[in-house]
Amino acid sequence: MQHYFYIFTRRDYFMKQSSWNKHYDALTKTAPLPAATLSFALEQFNKEHIDPAQKTAIDLGFGSGIDSMALLNDGWNLTAMDKDATAIKYLRQLALPHYAARLKIIHKSFEEIALHPALLINATFSLPFCVPQHFPALWKNIRLALQPGGRFAGQFFGMEDSWRAREDMTFHTPALLQELFTGFSVEQMEETKREGRTVGGALKHWHVFHIVAQYR
Ligand SMILES: C[S@@+](CC[C@H](N)C(=O)[O-])C[C@H]1O[C@@H](n2cnc3c(N)ncnc32)[C@H](O)[C@@H]1O
Repeated sequence: MQHYFYIFTRRDYFMKQSSWNKHYDALTKTAPLPAATLSFALEQFNKEHIDPAQKTAIDLGFGSGIDSMALLNDGWNLTAMDKDATAIKYLRQLALPHYAARLKIIHKSFEEIALHPALLINATFSLPFCVPQHFPALWKNIRLALQPGGRFAGQFFGMEDSWRAREDMTFHTPALLQELFTGFSVEQMEETKREGRTVGGALKHWHVFHIVAQYR
């Protein structure tokens, strides 16, 4: 529960910032906890006592690198990707050279990447920023990359979100999400609606689905 509320604190901070740079800086200094969705997924894997050699993860849109660092600290081999040059720089500073043997950092956008097989794909508050035209291809890549028994952890934005009119972002109804997660066991699904600040300080309505699901 503590992590769950933390997510909001973390996003509120992000929305008050005028640039990704300030966002990453603030997060790495003030909020080192991973997203609740990722924490839950890691707990599930730990209960399953998986072979350490199988611990292969991808962090999509890693941003501040907090989730990436949690994955590395938990022993995962990680591919972390983001399209933002500042994020790339921050993660290099945070994780290298200590984790060089288990970390691959990729500076690419969702539209360009090919995903390798992984037991865990994490996408904390990043997939809604994929353009709608590309989302089906991205999701297909995610499904193809996930190994049987693997998990997806991340967020989707709902139709009541204030940013719904933005043409460069992707939003989902519960029915669309159900379709996306066909073939998965949904282990955690929380829908939240709340008011919060945007970049520039305006009030915005947040409509978010927090999901952890295991691929069968
Ligand atoms: C709200 S931030 C979340 C960052 C991080 N996952 C976290 O929870 O702190 C969204 C991240 O997605 C990245 N992003 C947005 N659109 C992207 C795209 N099309 N391809 C790759 N990364 C993208 C941004 O650069 C940013 O780092």
